[in-house]
Amino acid sequence: MKLLFTNVKAIHGITEPTIEKLSGAEMAKAETIEKGYLLVEDGKIADFGRMVDMKPTVLGSVNEVIDAQGRLLLPAFCDSHTHIVFAEPREAEFVDRINGLSYEEIAQRGGGILNSAKKMREYLPQDLYDSAKSRIDEMMLTGTGAVEIKSGYGLSLAQELKMLRVIKELKNHSPITIKATFLGAHAIPTAYKEKREEYIESIIHEMIPAVVAEELADYIDVFCDKGFFTPEETDRILKAGIAAGLQPKIHANELAISGGVQVGVANNALSVDHLECMSDAEIEVLKNSDTMATMLPGTAFFLKISYPPARKMIDAGLAVALASDYNPGSSPSGNMEFITSLACIQMNMLPQEALTAATLNGAYAMDLGKEMGSIAIGKRANLILTRPIPSLAFLPYNFGSSIVERLFIDGEMRVDKRGNSGLLSE
Ligand code: NIG
Ligand code: FE
Repeated sequence: MKLLFTNVKAIHGITEPTIEKLSGAEMAKAETIEKGYLLVEDGKIADFGRMVDMKPTVLGSVNEVIDAQGRLLLPAFCDSHTHIVFAEPREAEFVDRINGLSYEEIAQRGGGILNSAKKMREYLPQDLYDSAKSRIDEMMLTGTGAVEIKSGYGLSLAQELKMLRVIKELKNHSPITIKATFLGAHAIPTAYKEKREEYIESIIHEMIPAVVAEELADYIDVFCDKGFFTPEETDRILKAGIAAGLQPKIHANELAISGGVQVGVANNALSVDHLECMSDAEIEVLKNSDTMATMLPGTAFFLKISYPPARKMIDAGLAVALASDYNPGSSPSGNMEFITSLACIQMNMLPQEALTAATLNGAYAMDLGKEMGSIAIGKRANLILTRPIPSLAFLPYNFGSSIVERLFIDGEMRVDKRGNSGLLSE
């Protein structure tokens, strides 16, 4: 099966096939081709270049040609941090915050993660599956082509396994690639408030072995932050996960300079995520590591906390990724287009840097950098075809409005927003 895009206004996010991430100044330098073509063969990117250089033989054997006049081709977004399996939204807490309570105060009163854990027990796997599936469908409408999903609203052996089995079903039935993360250490459950050590022991000795035995997770995560898990506790839990074959991807430095970055890097974490609270020491530690620094600006926006120092991090030479953190408490949106707007508007990232962070570097943070995240020969044809827009900068600039017209996953069209817009005057 061969699909050919012709007359593409610009193809963005081009790298060599072996590139799995871009760091520092390289992030703005993923290549662009103007007036280009791109050939997909058997779900993979087979060839691309300038229209003027396209050999007539390329046209010969194709099954379908898409004349992309005025449109851009981008790699699909790779959203490397979400919590989209949850029972119910928490918009009442949102109103509590408007009335003056902080996220931490809400958590201390049994709201927040513990509120979601309470609701989780009341829900059947099928209902959790259906709601998460519709969130994935919605995310695809704004260009997401791969997603990581965490457990962490179970907070008991049975409920964590329930969540992870739902994620496994999603993996098996979704057109987009899904990675699963075990986050038993998301919060200390209410029943263990006075005996946190027992909960940690249960994560290490009951949950991790059971999760691994059923092959339910790719990664292990801990919420290493003020009021949640200490760096020492995080270290113990990560080491138990690593010994069982799970690589760490952790929450760190959302609420305070927590020591989380250091503990993540020391345990060779694939990524450390959040990073709203950063000092020079954290930047230095990340600089000498293979760990992706993942920023979740939807959370800073929604909780009205400070944004990660993205400019400083990129200027220091770090590789940074952008993810949505889609969850019911701190970032109830999986719209990666809006995340690129926040990155550029609030964190001074350049549009090209935001694209790299939301695609290739996000893929790296899910161990998918070899197969997707950039336009490269041999990578999977996970592509956004935009509506006609003037340039890449229009993506973050035109915030709140979608530029995604079509989404292709492995060369197959999975989203098509052409046609009737719904306007009665048409
Ligand atoms: O990434 N920070 C920890 N966990 C989530 C929030 C979870 C929740 O509030 O439900 C986050 O922001
Ligand atoms: Fe999170």
